[in-house]
Amino acid sequence: MRKLTEPKAGGDYRLRKMVANDLDAVMAIESVAHPHHWSAELVRRELGHEWSTVLLCEEPDGRGGMKLLGFLILWLVHDELHILNLATAPEHRRRGVGRTLLEAALARGRQHRCVQATLEVRRSNDPAIGLYQAFGFRAVGIRPNYYVDEREDAIVMVFDF
Ligand SMILES: CC(C)(COP(=O)(O)OP(=O)(O)OC[C@H]1O[C@@H](n2cnc3c(N)ncnc32)[C@H](O)[C@@H]1OP(=O)(O)O)[C@@H](O)C(=O)NCCC(=O)NCCS
Repeated sequence: MRKLTEPKAGGDYRLRKMVANDLDAVMAIESVAHPHHWSAELVRRELGHEWSTVLLCEEPDGRGGMKLLGFLILWLVHDELHILNLATAPEHRRRGVGRTLLEAALARGRQHRCVQATLEVRRSNDPAIGLYQAFGFRAVGIRPNYYVDEREDAIVMVFDF
């Protein structure tokens, strides 16, 4: 059986940090990823926080450039890694992009000697919950009506390094 940490065949994924010029490409993914997505201003503000990192996963576009497949926003605060956002472009899902980004985020947490990673996920978000569980995240609680617009609960998940 393929291990979760092995990239899927054919993936030539490159990771780098987001810069201001990437905002449009990031927003193209963000705006279709969530029922109530982050605004461009909110994403842009992350670039100014020294505790925040926006990781991008790209692959060559076949024309000499790179195409954005997905991104992840993380905060490193004291000994805790917090994952605030993760999204893969709909046409590139199930190709290991989310896994690649999550792995890179956890590697950063390890480098910073974090003891725990935390995140919130919609109760109905089976793909994301499936991904986090596959990495060893476990549900530790519920925040009722956390996503106020749909009155949907958040599941709080943690990962112990
Ligand atoms: C959740 C999300 C980021 C996953 O990204 P992805 O690039 O498709 O994920 P991967 O291809 O790396 O999948 C890794 C593993 O996650 C789980 N997974 C991913 N999508 C799944 C799905 N639709 N159903 C069940 N499990 C799923 C599987 O275990 C999968 O491994 P497998 O393909 O070998 O079975 C993507 O579905 C997405 O962008 N969703 C909308 C935004 C969102 O909900 N973000 C999470 C916010 S908390």
